[in-house]
Amino acid sequence: MSTLLLQLSDLHLFAEPDVLLREVPTRDSLGEVLEAVRGTGWEFDRVVVTGDFTHDERRETYEVAQELLEEWLDRCHVLPGNHDDRGLMREVFSGQAGGSDRGICFSQAVGGWRLIGIDTHVPGEVRGRVEQEMLDWLAGELAEHVAEPTIVFQHHPPIGVGSAWLDEIGLLDPGPYRDLITSSPQVRVVSCGHVHQESSGTLGTAVVLTVPSTGVQFVPLCRTARVDAIAPGFRVFALEDPADAVDASSVGWSSRVVRLPSISFPAVDV
Ligand SMILES: [Fe+2]
Repeated sequence: MSTLLLQLSDLHLFAEPDVLLREVPTRDSLGEVLEAVRGTGWEFDRVVVTGDFTHDERRETYEVAQELLEEWLDRCHVLPGNHDDRGLMREVFSGQAGGSDRGICFSQAVGGWRLIGIDTHVPGEVRGRVEQEMLDWLAGELAEHVAEPTIVFQHHPPIGVGSAWLDEIGLLDPGPYRDLITSSPQVRVVSCGHVHQESSGTLGTAVVLTVPSTGVQFVPLCRTARVDAIAPGFRVFALEDPADAVDASSVGWSSRVVRLPSISFPAVDV
């Protein structure tokens, strides 16, 4: 029996329900995405939201997000993006935002896999960073659970996605983090938000994935920002039970992006 994960990202909600971001009504769009999630009929074992809950960083907006995600809160993990307020997230999502002063993070065993989430938020910065304390914590978790196939979730991708403007606002000083992942072959996947598009790359033996936003999409492989008319969506993972595998590096997994069937939002330059 596979373990099913749902990843949502980059909600960019506003406290006022009808505000548009790049012509996209982000609250309505999230509502449609969540309806599509329900429509799959899949029972997700965990839901991970990889940041940018809000665009206005207001408490009311986090409360709206919490209300919309209510039916998944008992199995939900939240991580901050650059458009988040870590303190407000902790207050509103008190049951889902784990960690300590080092940041919001989690490490859990699910279906024989290790799910880890790390905080890359830097207050006041668009770019992200894995602070030394978070890196040390991650290294400790990976060392302690070396035999478990592992997925790491975070907001900022640790590698470029081929768009100069997005790669410039990626992870600051990524070397030590990349070295850690590269030397931890049980890390099968690093899955991120931030770039509002589907992409796939590698870091050592790990596959690095990104996911669509639940609202605004960006055109891939662009020098400058351009909003894509492609529909919003979410990412799903199916993780095979590692019981029969020889080691953590040979356990099967699959992932796919599911998008809404259509949208009426226009593509615009930003
Ligand atoms: Fe975002």
